[in-house]
Amino acid sequence: MMTLPRYCQKPKAPPIKSQGIKTKLTPLILASVKWDGEGRWIEPFLGSGAVLFNIQPDKALISDTNRHVIEVYKMIQTGEMSSASLRQYLEREGEQLEARGEEHYYAVRERFNQLGSPFDFVFLNRASFNGVIRFNSKGRFNVPFCKKVNRFRLAYITKICNQVAWVAKILQDKDWIFLVQDWRETLASVLPEDFVYLDPPYIGRHTDYFNSWSDTEADELAEAIKELSCGFAYSMWKKNKYRENEHLIKHFSHYPCVIYHHYYHVGSTENLRNAMEEALIISPDFLAPNEKVHSEKELTQLSLL
Ligand SMILES: C[S@@+](CC[C@H](N)C(=O)[O-])C[C@H]1O[C@@H](n2cnc3c(N)ncnc32)[C@H](O)[C@@H]1O
Repeated sequence: MMTLPRYCQKPKAPPIKSQGIKTKLTPLILASVKWDGEGRWIEPFLGSGAVLFNIQPDKALISDTNRHVIEVYKMIQTGEMSSASLRQYLEREGEQLEARGEEHYYAVRERFNQLGSPFDFVFLNRASFNGVIRFNSKGRFNVPFCKKVNRFRLAYITKICNQVAWVAKILQDKDWIFLVQDWRETLASVLPEDFVYLDPPYIGRHTDYFNSWSDTEADELAEAIKELSCGFAYSMWKKNKYRENEHLIKHFSHYPCVIYHHYYHVGSTENLRNAMEEALIISPDFLAPNEKVHSEKELTQLSLL
């Protein structure tokens, strides 16, 4: 049985890229949470799946309102998308991209917006500008081309296919359920032995179809998780150069909180970077012993409040 805390020196990246991806944070989550693994790992805001696939719980309930990310993982689970079938697809589409350039990217984008194929979603996710996932108010994927016509070189295809193979292998012996649904529905089914990890969109930062997140919704979620019958960990930004996150002060000032710093780039050169302080709020009885947290090497600075 999978129990926490646990060490993981090198977290792996999943086949889907997304803004707000928490791959680098997973060692901290693994080391900071104390959980016996008896119930289900519940993740109502799956995103790329980076946390889930590095945690690898035995049982899980996973959801997101973005059906495209859920569909990719459901197809890997059923075998409809495999490392081999994705390779065949990416080799074919990559050749066409090289031959036809951006015209092909936009043709795939249009096809995806009509039909919603998970294979096309992976293609767009890897050939769009900065690997951003963004949908307009009508739910249409609208990110422009990254401008690299030879995007799908063999080494890059192999990298993506290896990520799919990694996920497929994990899924083989797991009791995991993937659902497209709102966080409220997911939290409604929580049982006392479960553990919930929550990583909602940042308040007011992303404004696309799947990532709008208002103060009201953030308040509602905060109230709901404080009422949960099981343990939880909640990721949220804490402080940047300009201000403190009032939301955390308002709702979680008395909760255990692991702080970590990360940098995000705001320009093209190394020195154009801003520090962001992030918080992992953990429900009181589920905080792992302190020294585990400090052994995490990937994080530049850490303190336990
Ligand atoms: C910050 S991302 C999660 C990132 C993820 N932890 C990772 O490592 O990639 C937030 C996710 O919440 C989803 N989301 C937004 N509103 C939602 C809602 N009302 N219910 C469920 N999921 C929602 C978005 O589609 C997005 O995938």
